[in-house]
Amino acid sequence: MGYLIAMAVLPLTTAITLSTRIGLPSAITRAALHDYLATPAHWPKIVLSSVAVRGEAVDAPLGVGGSVDEIFGLPPVLPLEVRWTCTASDRDRGLLIFESRSGLSGIAENCKMDFRINTSQDSTDLELKMSFDPVSPIALLATPVLMLDNALALKFFLPRAVRPSTLGTMDPIAGPLVAAARRLGLLPEAEGDGWRGEPSAWAEADSLTQRLSAFSQRRLGSLKQWLAERAAGEYDVAAVDARLEAAIAGSSVMLFSFTSCPFCKKAKALLTAKGAAFSVLELDEDADGAALRAQLGRRTGRTSVPSVWIGGEYVGGMNDGVPGLGPLDTAGLLAPRLKEVGAIA
Ligand SMILES: *[C@@H]1O[C@H](CO)[C@@H](O)[C@H](O)[C@H]1NC(C)=O
Repeated sequence: MGYLIAMAVLPLTTAITLSTRIGLPSAITRAALHDYLATPAHWPKIVLSSVAVRGEAVDAPLGVGGSVDEIFGLPPVLPLEVRWTCTASDRDRGLLIFESRSGLSGIAENCKMDFRINTSQDSTDLELKMSFDPVSPIALLATPVLMLDNALALKFFLPRAVRPSTLGTMDPIAGPLVAAARRLGLLPEAEGDGWRGEPSAWAEADSLTQRLSAFSQRRLGSLKQWLAERAAGEYDVAAVDARLEAAIAGSSVMLFSFTSCPFCKKAKALLTAKGAAFSVLELDEDADGAALRAQLGRRTGRTSVPSVWIGGEYVGGMNDGVPGLGPLDTAGLLAPRLKEVGAIA
């Protein structure tokens, strides 16, 4: 009620500023948070009222001068569109501003989103100041909704979207063991290079885990396939297979990978050391990852990652397979094969 009275007496020319602040764990760096917020494709993921973004490069951080159209509201009932232009962006200082002079036609003008990020020893702090000049009472009516929307976006969805992945927990068997070992202090939270997946040493060609992995793939392949299919549940086989086919045919070197898998890390490092161009599909970050993995198993008889394809041909995993990326390199056959398919200039 008080709100309605305030609305009636508040002159429409008064600019409105809504401020939302949060503190995040310091493991989330200022630059990472800045890049996350500067990437328009992330907005609909964390803002309930944001339906979609349209623009030329919405999947990467927008630079100063870059524009994007954000569609929000309740389309098709009430499609609202705002063209945002990035007017300031400094990832080192934690500054990011988007402005829209024309705003929402007939509702609000001079809309602005001003993000500031500070870092201290134990937290990364973010403040969003959203401001606009209302030109219709609708803008005033929408204000409490916007406040709630901003609070939910920053306090609930954003922390979940940017938290450093607890990668050690990705693999159903190795994950819980790694997580427990970390809690007990038997394993560091991260390795020297910042790697938080399963221990890199596991991927050594002569490690116990490598032998276990090779053994389980050889002896328990059909059990692993059954597990992979259980994990995938029901899926559209034709559609998933078409995605696999497109990925394999679309890149001279294609890696199906898990972000936490040390064998995958090693395969990427080997290809990078060869100066090869390659594509990666991280199955643990893909909505259809489990289905893709099950389908890879059906195609190749192996569900393990990485699943490496060169020139459309399956060459196995890192240390084993048919023949595996490492063995291919040891035999001196990797570089010529990469040249042949144009992955090395
Ligand atoms: C960042 O630090 C400045 C200066 O100490 C302070 O005025 C501002 O409120 C801080 N912002 C956030 C988001 O913590």
